Amino acid sequence: MTKQRKLYIKTYGCQMNVYDSERMAEAMGPGGYTQTDTPEDADLILLNTCHIREKAAEKVYSELGRLKGLKKDNPDLKIGVAGCVAQAEGAEIMARAPMVDLVVGPQSYHNLPALEAKARGGKRALDTEFPTEDKFEHLPARTARGPKARRAPAAFLTVQEGCDKFCAFCVVPYTRGAEVSRPVGRVLSEAEDLVSRGVREITLLGQNVNAYHGADGQQSWGLARLVRRLAEIDGLERIRFTTSHPNDMDDDLIAAHGDCPKLMPYLHLPVQSGSDRILKRMNRKHTAAEYIALIDRIRAARPDILISGDFIVGFPEETEQDFEDTMELVRQIRYGQAFSFKYSARPGTPAAERIDVDPVQADARLQRLQALLREQQTEIQQEMVGREVNVLFEKPGRMAGQMVGKSDYLHAVHVETDAEIGTIARVRITASGPNSLAGEIVDNSA
Ligand code: SAH
Ligand code: SF4
Ligand code: F3S
Repeated sequence: MTKQRKLYIKTYGCQMNVYDSERMAEAMGPGGYTQTDTPEDADLILLNTCHIREKAAEKVYSELGRLKGLKKDNPDLKIGVAGCVAQAEGAEIMARAPMVDLVVGPQSYHNLPALEAKARGGKRALDTEFPTEDKFEHLPARTARGPKARRAPAAFLTVQEGCDKFCAFCVVPYTRGAEVSRPVGRVLSEAEDLVSRGVREITLLGQNVNAYHGADGQQSWGLARLVRRLAEIDGLERIRFTTSHPNDMDDDLIAAHGDCPKLMPYLHLPVQSGSDRILKRMNRKHTAAEYIALIDRIRAARPDILISGDFIVGFPEETEQDFEDTMELVRQIRYGQAFSFKYSARPGTPAAERIDVDPVQADARLQRLQALLREQQTEIQQEMVGREVNVLFEKPGRMAGQMVGKSDYLHAVHVETDAEIGTIARVRITASGPNSLAGEIVDNSA
């Protein structure tokens, strides 16, 4: 009989890591591992890490420091580092942290059971190869979504990995490798499987998900075609995708926002900067005006779409005028949601060789940008009050008799109801708080 063991996974970084953590848990299932939420109970701890900014990468070493004590209490405990820091700094982790038993890069998760067995046998194990075979083919079916995910009616599904864009600041092309799309058939069967397990909303994931070009025999499908085909699955009510690059928003995908009702009115389309000079230095390959024109076309197809973005402030050589251009672009677009970061120099990327902006200035700019973005987000949330939206209930709220779900626009909505997890209800928004909305049921059977 296989020995029963406990696995604790801590996930950092993007949604693709969330998806990968589920898949790693599934890969360890046949070896007798079930997931736990308490590291103290674990026989194997995996840190699924992110390398995107310096602070993200540093978290690994501080977390490893905290975990050290657990090994003293449980000599059988094995500790592994997965994800993008593992890929970028695998050998360094092995050298700096002797308590790490295994290191596994994002393209090698199917080798996790073998690496764990090697570590149990007393040898430290490292795999950060970019294998030619598709790791997804070698992972077990979606039978064992983690304890938290199992009941969740919304799921992630990675359809594309890696990136060929090489923005001057970004580590992703190095940590995740070249752009690869999963074949259409695999994506469809995984989606159908998720829906048969009660999933009603799927978010398609990829570092550049709208560059999806999955094979179907001799044909290659774009993302719009994939979305339209997924929309035919009975029981699947909502489709989203993230993250997209402006240059890969083709006409068909724009049209799908207008004519595919299951495609939700929310689009995360990072721009990073509103200055053409900086966009060029970032190697983004479009101008601010092109981005604004693109958003106009998307809004023509779906007028109520909520636009979300990412921004980097203090990119090398950014002047006050460049920053003002970013503020101006933000005023023109009106973002319903946004993520903004101070530039962080990453080893091995072209921008790391350039001269940094004075950090005090960069901080001040970030404050100003975030204040503007917060203002827009609050306004757009306020405008929801009085409107009717559909809410997919995901979990009980903090107060008794309350459920929390997501609106079509991805706002969290608190509602007093005894509706079950996984139901979609028509809800009238009654109030807007700092991070969520409140609403009341209009119709239970939306
Ligand atoms: N593929 C996506 C982004 C992936 S990384 C895209 O092209 O937009 C997520 C976000 O992290 C980026 O949009 C960017 O805003 C931020 N980011 C990436 N590298 C960074 C760096 N070196 N410093 C600060 N922020 C960074
Ligand atoms: Fe990074 Fe640019 Fe690729 Fe996005 S498109 S993952 S920012 S290199
Ligand atoms: Fe971070 Fe890797 Fe995702 S660097 S953002 S975990 S692709």
